[in-house]
Amino acid sequence: MKPTTAPRTYRVKSFGCQMNVYDGERMAEMLGARGIVPAAEGEDADLVVLNTCHIREKAAEKVYSDIGRLTKGKTQDKAPIIAVAGCVAQAEGEEIMARAPAVSMVVGPQAYHRLPEMLDKAVAGERSTDTDMPAIAKFAALPERRRTNPASFLTVQEGCDKFCTYCVVPYTRGAEISRPYSDLVTEARKLVEAGAKEITLLGQNVSAWSGENDRGHKVGLAGLIRDLAQVDGLARIRYTTSHPADMDEEIIAAHGEVEKLMPFLHLPVQAGNDRVLKAMNRSHTVESYLRLLERFREARPDLALSGDFIVGFPGETEAEFEDTLKLVDEVRYAQAFSFKYSPRPGTPAASMDGQVAAEVMKDRLARLQDRLNRDQHAFNTASVGKTCEVLVERKGKLPGQWLGKSPWLQSVFFEGEDIAIGDLVQATLADAGPNSLRGEPVSAHERRYENA
Ligand code: 5AD
Ligand code: SF4
Repeated sequence: MKPTTAPRTYRVKSFGCQMNVYDGERMAEMLGARGIVPAAEGEDADLVVLNTCHIREKAAEKVYSDIGRLTKGKTQDKAPIIAVAGCVAQAEGEEIMARAPAVSMVVGPQAYHRLPEMLDKAVAGERSTDTDMPAIAKFAALPERRRTNPASFLTVQEGCDKFCTYCVVPYTRGAEISRPYSDLVTEARKLVEAGAKEITLLGQNVSAWSGENDRGHKVGLAGLIRDLAQVDGLARIRYTTSHPADMDEEIIAAHGEVEKLMPFLHLPVQAGNDRVLKAMNRSHTVESYLRLLERFREARPDLALSGDFIVGFPGETEAEFEDTLKLVDEVRYAQAFSFKYSPRPGTPAASMDGQVAAEVMKDRLARLQDRLNRDQHAFNTASVGKTCEVLVERKGKLPGQWLGKSPWLQSVFFEGEDIAIGDLVQATLADAGPNSLRGEPVSAHERRYENA
């Protein structure tokens, strides 16, 4: 590769999960600290970071087609400097380097703090790969948080030791590590100073977070949440994603007691049949999952539930799939994510017998999603008439329209004056659609009346 001029503008394109969004923001901050600015909307960037996801099919193909689009018809001095980051970089870094000469940097999710050094090399004409997995070193090397959204993310835990047989995460993100308590409290404070009103604590297996608090006591996720609730100016706390096996009494109690902890729980179940769950190595049964939900609902009766589902896991029969539909009918999720099983190279399920045909998976997914959509709409409809706080995240499409989130993570749009992004607006939920609700702000007069 020839040496090139240092980039003036960048674009970070994040795919996949919220942790990638968080990583993307942190990479952007590092580039910003170097004086590189975000490329304007519609303008080509001098440096493009493709922050990739490997969780399901076609991830690598998507990366190659993006690279093709970025370099099409361009000589090296006209094409952007390209970095491939994220989980595809971790899993397929060598192949990418061999197959895509236009890529200057391949950097894994645990190594992206080295992006600035790698960029220097790229400018000097040297390609580099870094897919090391040093425990936690990354966070210490990142610059301070200065800029954020009203609803922002904070990675507290990374990696996963659960080894569900379909999942690539334990291989791409590595073993479970918890970031230290004091770093998290500091980062949360910085986020709030920078304008965050809501923080979502992120981890591939966030319920496994553990640390030592400033009084020298061992604490789990619930303890961390209780302490973060003391941060002035922080109004809302959420966390994702949890594994049923790591949910303890303390986190259940926190949902009943910590006002700032929002009434929302994303607790993936994946399937509604015990044989399938066992083959997935999920370490919970349908019954134990349902009992757990019952305890959460006792602690917080208005809790909105969310889940993840996989249809067509190898060997899944029609009757076993129908057990998933039964589970959905029983739980009545407020929202959910559902996927066709996708064999991930190197995972145990990829070589299991009984791979399910594509048409069968398609049919099962459609049937499952019908029910999940029905329940989401029903949940929204049942919220009509409630008055709640909406955290304003952005302007809506129409003039004077704003968009925000309810405590139950529903999208709420409303019209109002004297409103700014980041406000917490009291609104009555007036109309429900399948994906959003219309709210009516409670006027200052009515608010005074209510408080009298
Ligand atoms: N195929 C389909 N879905 C998957 N997920 C994880 N791995 C796979 C796979 N191989 C889904 C799970 C998980 C979510 C993040 O992605 O439902 O909870
Ligand atoms: Fe993947 Fe299972 Fe770990 Fe979730 S708990 S990241 S599905 S291995």
